[in-house]
Amino acid sequence: MYQAMNKLYELVEKLYKTSSLSLDEYKFLIDNRDEKSTELLKNYAVLMRKKYYGNKVFVRGLIEVSNVCKNDCYYCGIRKSNNNCNRYRLSKEDILSCCKEGYELGFRTSVLQGGEDGALSDEVLCDLVSSIKSNHPDCAVTLSLGERSYESYQKLYDSGADRYLLRHETADSTHYSKLHPENLTLSNRIECLHNLKKIGFQVGCGFMVGSPYQTTENIAKDLKFIEDFSPHMCGIGPFIPHKDTVFKNEKAGDAQLCCYLLSIVRLIKPNILLPATTALGTVKSDGREKGILSGANVVMPNLSPLSVRKKYSLYDGKISTGEESAQSLSKLKKSMTSIGYEVVTDRGDIANKE
Ligand code: 5AD
Repeated sequence: MYQAMNKLYELVEKLYKTSSLSLDEYKFLIDNRDEKSTELLKNYAVLMRKKYYGNKVFVRGLIEVSNVCKNDCYYCGIRKSNNNCNRYRLSKEDILSCCKEGYELGFRTSVLQGGEDGALSDEVLCDLVSSIKSNHPDCAVTLSLGERSYESYQKLYDSGADRYLLRHETADSTHYSKLHPENLTLSNRIECLHNLKKIGFQVGCGFMVGSPYQTTENIAKDLKFIEDFSPHMCGIGPFIPHKDTVFKNEKAGDAQLCCYLLSIVRLIKPNILLPATTALGTVKSDGREKGILSGANVVMPNLSPLSVRKKYSLYDGKISTGEESAQSLSKLKKSMTSIGYEVVTDRGDIANKE
């Protein structure tokens, strides 16, 4: 027992010093998580995030542009076969006015997120992105619109998009096939991520904690994938069941494990942009503060028009009118100040390594 404990803390030190562990070592770190390893990892993670970002917290205005989706992911509330989902698509005017409102509130990044909606053609999106960039040249535009072709990503990049978020969801292909229908594959997802990077986007991957059938070995693979792929951003949030999905009776992921993994990811890639996610704030009322205190440095409040917020329901109970909403930015600022951090008006690009 004593030896196992020693090994656990030695692995924390090794991760801090080298930013790398083997698959088995990651697995050991997760399987043997205890209070002391949590504290150690958190302290090192906060040290690292302070080194690159001081006490700054970057904010992104999240605009949920469409909940129309051609995919049928088993976990997701806006899956194609959910007939209870009230579908909507924001107009260009709606989206531009969200960006303007965000700008006035101090946001310098807009994240356009949506389902894989066929109406969001390259033409429509490129026009939208170039309009946002011409209205707000000092802002970054992040897209989170799923899998597209290399040519499509290239066009979006050429129209001015800066960043792209595409969670890998799980780095284990068998686990991937338990969360998605057959037409969706891990290899295609990974290819998209590589394409995005090659084109020049700042790229974010990510996964859910506690998704159905997830094993610690799966999580170890996620961590190894993050180490190898070296993304600029990484979204990690607990799985939360949605009543109209295959996984409606599954239990939600654990917030503490999620925070533990945030600390580990901070140590794998010390300058990574790491959000304390909405899902983390949903399973735990102070989840986002806990996330920041575990090494995260980004928060993404919702800028979508109030009329559509409830409709973009990926999981049950998604917070949408409290502190996570952009209009309540002042509340978020206060809560970050109270834990020793400061929300800044900044594009919030990734810090240079040295
Ligand atoms: N619980 C938690 N996160 C979810 N997502 C989708 N459905 C759920 C759910 N039920 C996440 C996925 C997706 C991101 C936009 O939201 O990881 O990539």
